[in-house]
Amino acid sequence: MNRITAAITAVGAYVPEEVLTNKQLEKMVETNDEWITSRTGIKERRILKDPDKGTSYLGIQAAQNLIEKSNLDPKEIDLVILASVTPDMPVAATAVHVATSIGAVNAFAYDLQAACSGFLYAMSTGSAYIEAGRYKKVLVIGADKMSSIIDYTDRTTCIIFGDGAGAVLMEPNDEGLGLQDEILRSDSIGRKSLNIAAGGSLLPPSEETVAKKLHYVRQDGKTVFKFAVSNMAGVSEQIMQRNHLTNEDVNWLIAHQANKRIVGATASRMGLEDEKVLMNIQRYGNTTSATLPLLLSDFEKQFKKGDNLIFASFGGGFTWGATYLKWAYNS
Ligand code: UT7
Repeated sequence: MNRITAAITAVGAYVPEEVLTNKQLEKMVETNDEWITSRTGIKERRILKDPDKGTSYLGIQAAQNLIEKSNLDPKEIDLVILASVTPDMPVAATAVHVATSIGAVNAFAYDLQAACSGFLYAMSTGSAYIEAGRYKKVLVIGADKMSSIIDYTDRTTCIIFGDGAGAVLMEPNDEGLGLQDEILRSDSIGRKSLNIAAGGSLLPPSEETVAKKLHYVRQDGKTVFKFAVSNMAGVSEQIMQRNHLTNEDVNWLIAHQANKRIVGATASRMGLEDEKVLMNIQRYGNTTSATLPLLLSDFEKQFKKGDNLIFASFGGGFTWGATYLKWAYNS
């Protein structure tokens, strides 16, 4: 009997309509389109303006897009895992509200937080359940309303992030397609370089933490950049070697969209031509947990059954990883 693997069988996505361009940011902080474009690759990002809508709204829209495209009966979903750093609330998992709202009444649901690697970690967890034979339909969502944790007077962060969500359905496959291998890593050396300092158990929210703006994302961009380049490129090269994949064998690089220069360095270590390196950072910025499924959604039509995809991520924590997956269908 063939080994059961976990394959992606459907994809959905959502970004809010409101666009925040580099030109608009020029009026908000001391920056310019040329600097942002050349240092990051970003031209514009999407912002969920409605103050009454949180990350669950983004996740629900992405999941409903997947359900409509694939004619999935939500009652058949066994599990919903939602990767996010911006849950609706600290307690009452966002995934639970998403699952209930989409009609996944027979599912259990929980959140997973691993910053920009959240989606890869969530795919890992979802796949393990499927490979073990425990569940058959796992909905993995990456969703973030980054605008809710950004200080729009801080030019070192506000130019980078945007809001969005993407979702994939993972199901058992007996043709050897789907998730093949992964290298996932973490190191708290990064705890100081990229974080939200207040609002957790270490420094609960207070008037003082709010006055000091400690509830916003802060990052030492240069340090994060260095670690991102060496670690993301490192595991991407390692996963190719471990699976005897040459640059010819790899069809697509699905890399976390934090900075086009980090993605470029990873692609170059892997020896990949530009056509194989998928980019949408110019339109959405860094949407944290959502960048990888947003790439899948944007480029889904180009993937062919059997294509070799390498996912790569790096994010706060630090967390990083690379995943090797064989695409399971033609659109
Ligand atoms: O997704 C989670 C993981 N995050 C990442 O992977 C992000 C990694 N880091 C980066 O992508 C980059 O470090 C940034 C895009 C955040 C910054 O780019 P950089 O090339 O590392 O710039 P820098 O921080 O070294 O700053 C260079 C200069 C500084 O001026 P001086 O000191 O040389 O006079 C900054 O003050 O650029 C200045 N600067 C800006 N100028 C115009 C910083 N931000 C801006 C800005 N507009 N928005």
